[in-house]
Amino acid sequence: MKVPFIDILRYENGFYETVVKQTADLIKNGHFVGGPIVGQFEKNLNTYTQAKFSLGCANGTDAIQVALRAAGVDKNDKVMIPDMTFWATFEAVVNVGAIPYTLDVSRETLHLTLAAVKEGVEKFNPKALILVHLYGWACPETLEIRQYCKEKNVLVIEDCAQAVGTKINNESIIASAEVATTSFYPAKVLGASGDAGGIFSKSEEVIKTSKILLNHGRTGHYDHGLIGWNSRLGAYEATFLDLALPHLDAKLESRRATCEHYRNNIKNPALKFIAPASNVWENGYLSVAVMDPAARPAFIEYLKAHDIGYGTVYPGAMSEQPGAAAHLGGKITHGHADWISKAVINLPCFAYMTKEEVAYVVNTVNAYK
Ligand SMILES: Cc1ncc(COP(=O)(O)O)c(C=O)c1O
Repeated sequence: MKVPFIDILRYENGFYETVVKQTADLIKNGHFVGGPIVGQFEKNLNTYTQAKFSLGCANGTDAIQVALRAAGVDKNDKVMIPDMTFWATFEAVVNVGAIPYTLDVSRETLHLTLAAVKEGVEKFNPKALILVHLYGWACPETLEIRQYCKEKNVLVIEDCAQAVGTKINNESIIASAEVATTSFYPAKVLGASGDAGGIFSKSEEVIKTSKILLNHGRTGHYDHGLIGWNSRLGAYEATFLDLALPHLDAKLESRRATCEHYRNNIKNPALKFIAPASNVWENGYLSVAVMDPAARPAFIEYLKAHDIGYGTVYPGAMSEQPGAAAHLGGKITHGHADWISKAVINLPCFAYMTKEEVAYVVNTVNAYK
């Protein structure tokens, strides 16, 4: 049996046909950029995430850039980010002219801790923090970090690219954030058929400014109040996403069940599965385990030999990327992000995996010696 790391083509019955029909309508009606479907998707997304205000944009990296600018991050401002994240978090800071500072993450939870944020604030005196929620989880100390940053006047922008549908204390992580962003890259839990992203906020001001920034700084059709750029969500992607949204809960349930099944049924001592904190409701984006870094290459070869796909999300710390050196303002490291990058292993996890596929992965990994 062959089990890929991810298969994004398991559409629900009738989904493909409806997308094709509605795409044909868009072309007939000349709705290419904007049009009613973009507003409709934004409204439905707002209802799903329970955010106060939601906006679509071109991709998850732009979403962070727009949000940083709209929240008030300016040229040469210091912005702290976790050392374990996707490169876009780092890039976004540099692209808005600010300076990234990396903080180490916990070896146990793989996320930032309140203690790490405190140390960073005291050492760097930053303008903002990008709090990243990885693997479909939420950073366990999110509420404490938000509160502390509020007291210290540090802006918090939350990168929820992997956390659509994730909850903390029974509340949508996106809704409870002051400013949050996401990605609808096809492999995400709510994936478009190309690039797309979203920006969310409790502040009407942040959303108003975001809307201007992502549409050429427009304050009128030919009035440009700000230097923005073009990061509009296209009508086609909005159509695809709006049709995918009603299926999202079923997809998350399916993914969560796989993550839980692995944690409960893979007993091989070579792998240590990590679960989100008990107050976090995961969306099942990724299954996460760690293993002895020296043992990982052989295990990967074993997976390959048995036709099982895998991930190593992420295989390097941000501060160690070749592109980082010229821009990094400073870092606090205890070697954890670096260790995680060599120890992490992700088993196949995607919506609508079959029982047979999951069982094959479990049995194959349990048989590994
Ligand atoms: C944590 C994180 N931040 C940002 C992004 C960037 O999103 P996009 O690829 O849509 O630009 C991604 C997605 O790849 C991500 O996983």
